Amino acid sequence: MESLTDNDILPPLTIRSHHPDSKKEITLKLPIINGGMGVGVTGPELAAAVTNEGGGGVLTGVVLNYPFKEILGKYLDEEPYEANQLALAEWIATAKQKVNGGFIGVNLMVALHDFKELAFTAAKSKVDLIIAGAGLPMALPEIVSKFPDTMIAPIISSVKAARVMIRRWMSRGRPPDAMVYESIHHSGGHQGADLIEIENGEHQPEEVIGGVRKLLDENGLQDVPLIAAGGVWDKVDIKRHLAWGAQGVQMASRFLLTNEAGAEFGGISMFKKLFIENETPAILERSPAGLPGRAVLTPFSARFAYSKSEVEKEPHECPAVCLVSCEKKASIYCIAHHLTESLKNNYEEGLFFCGSNIGKPGVVKELLSVKELMYRLSHGEPVHIQPTQAIAEAV
Ligand SMILES: Cc1cc2nc3c(=O)[nH]c(=O)nc-3n(C[C@H](O)[C@H](O)[C@H](O)COP(=O)(O)O)c2cc1C
Repeated sequence: MESLTDNDILPPLTIRSHHPDSKKEITLKLPIINGGMGVGVTGPELAAAVTNEGGGGVLTGVVLNYPFKEILGKYLDEEPYEANQLALAEWIATAKQKVNGGFIGVNLMVALHDFKELAFTAAKSKVDLIIAGAGLPMALPEIVSKFPDTMIAPIISSVKAARVMIRRWMSRGRPPDAMVYESIHHSGGHQGADLIEIENGEHQPEEVIGGVRKLLDENGLQDVPLIAAGGVWDKVDIKRHLAWGAQGVQMASRFLLTNEAGAEFGGISMFKKLFIENETPAILERSPAGLPGRAVLTPFSARFAYSKSEVEKEPHECPAVCLVSCEKKASIYCIAHHLTESLKNNYEEGLFFCGSNIGKPGVVKELLSVKELMYRLSHGEPVHIQPTQAIAEAV
């Protein structure tokens, strides 16, 4: 059993721009950033709180127009892409104000039609770091080249993908400023792999983290931090990922269980209730993005689970025009709609993405403030809490 009073001090995390015209360098007191959670879960309240407690706060910049219109009635008259940009710029400005100009990152999906415009908007709004996944962000250095102080990080899930990204970006004279590795066996939401790779147990965290660290070092990128995501729940997990060769961690599911998550959309109480009460393992479901999605088993996700050999398409409109890979009205369902239903506490129709810790036995789940959570992540869980031994053994 892990000691409950953990006196080890976690190392800080430094990220610096590799743009030839920038000397920007940011050091976070704690090597912890929150994962972007689309749509709408990681807004300014959560991101600012994470930064103010010594970590790195990351906003989601994904398909903001739909929840803004549906829930807040804002930007009603705007076209989808303009509404996305307005909402993103507004969130970055609000979050920046809450952290007095401190660190704010944004998570974007390459698979979005307006990825380029959103990345440009984020950089123009002076975001510190763009983390881009759901596809490899090949052209990101060119998109933000006029903004030397906007740092950029691709999300990769294998050593091979890391190699492709390093080669491509270095050939453009702009190595990555950080790399985020998401484990396909543990992370919530879309996975950067085929179902078969997940089923075959390929790309295990220890192997990929070690491999990517080696690759970065071999390319002279010793100062580029590798940030590991997926299945990180407590200080024990953080230390394990650092020991494997990561310089920081990105955590999402545990941050969803904070008062600040989804604050802009009423606090997303059903999401939090499901995370706390759910005892069924997370499932993999089909997504119109063409990637497997890890989610809580609910009436909606069950309809599109991979465990079912056939699924029935759901007739729908295409109000947010979000994914490049989506065949709009012809695709299996509208993901923007079902993700927004989860923000509206709709148990039946919401799509509740989650990491593998949700539904795993032995995981201590409580709703905390970000302040309390960050304290626990840097000091260990309080004595009355049992450690997440089940996770430690399973990874
Ligand atoms: C509700 C939810 C929504 C997510 N949305 C996104 C997203 O929009 N873009 C993305 O790159 N990752 C997304 N993720 C993945 C997280 O950012 C993170 O890397 C991953 O969940 C880490 O694993 P953990 O949840 O076990 O901590 C999402 C995860 C969750 C739980």
